[in-house]
Amino acid sequence: MAKNLTNTEYGLEKIFKDAQDFLPLLGTDYIEFYVGNAKQAAHFYKTAFGFQSLAYAGLETGWKDRVSYVLKQDKIKLVLTTALNSESEVGNHVQKHGDGVKIIALWVEDSQKSYDETIKRGAKSYLKPVKESDEHGEVVKSGIYTYGETVHLFIERKNYNGEFLPGFRKWDSSYNPSEVGLKYVDHMVGNVGWGEMNTWVKWYEDVMGFVNFLSFDDKQIHTEYSALMSKVMSNGNGRIKFPINEPAKAKKRSQIEEYLDFYEGSGVQHIAIATDNIIETVKKLKSRGVEFLSAPPNEYYNEIPERLGSHMKIMKENIQDLQDLAILVDADEEGYLLQIFTKPVEDRPTLFFEIIQRMGARGFGAGNFKALFESIEREQANRGTL
Ligand code: FE2
Repeated sequence: MAKNLTNTEYGLEKIFKDAQDFLPLLGTDYIEFYVGNAKQAAHFYKTAFGFQSLAYAGLETGWKDRVSYVLKQDKIKLVLTTALNSESEVGNHVQKHGDGVKIIALWVEDSQKSYDETIKRGAKSYLKPVKESDEHGEVVKSGIYTYGETVHLFIERKNYNGEFLPGFRKWDSSYNPSEVGLKYVDHMVGNVGWGEMNTWVKWYEDVMGFVNFLSFDDKQIHTEYSALMSKVMSNGNGRIKFPINEPAKAKKRSQIEEYLDFYEGSGVQHIAIATDNIIETVKKLKSRGVEFLSAPPNEYYNEIPERLGSHMKIMKENIQDLQDLAILVDADEEGYLLQIFTKPVEDRPTLFFEIIQRMGARGFGAGNFKALFESIEREQANRGTL
């Protein structure tokens, strides 16, 4: 089990001060998936995850080669994009990687400056700054490549008050399943190739001004069969957290290796979404057909009081409820957290979601890694990919 570090040991406040301020980030603006059938994917995220219809662009709005559906739940915006012909880079991306995250769009005050500062520090350009406008105002977009074919866009929207972005129209739907309590993106994890973790850690430090505030090596993250290494990168205000994973050598194929094989390269492994009532959220998700990894054995739940120590006093949840729903628990000096992981949400064993409720803890559930990976290994064994 990984050691639980105190806040002083993280040195968070100091670390965040050390972070460069050449790239102030206000938050995650949206996450764009390139998918095989955006109409059906939108239906899935509405029905299963409770996202609400927000905006749409496609043939009806003058686009010729692609269509995008925009969904929203509290602070989270998802964009689902599909190619309308075989020439499209969207289709090529899906053919190679399957459905997956193409764009992690970051909300900035100044898109031109964000682009200039990151390009100056070695970023590879994806989109030169471009102004787009409609009757609701003006947006500036620019973008750089990160790991694999994944992209960070810098979205400046201080002079815009439309639903989403110019080019999109409001999406009024008569089908509106209720929300499930998903609030905001807590962190997004990237899987990178063998030996590439430190390259990307350095890239986030040098190019984006991020800091590495937590690290886990393969001695901490391993089971009998598989291992991985992970470093958590954060921007200066702590709103954007990107853990970076790489596989490590072990007896059998790790989940990271399985991801890299099926995604055919580096990419986003999971999106962690915060809720403030994980029991209600997970009950709703399960009733709507979202599949989660199975629960660890009884001993895991029997040991919770010991693992949480003094935090048991502030714990509101009933351990039996957590066990019934297969929710995991971890603690650090500052508090505890509750988390659960979905199975992959597409046929390739690649992208999945995490649902997380933080009750003071700032970690990533290191105490759960072993239980979690054993659960993933049961799935890998079923797929014959362990
Ligand atoms: Fe996570």
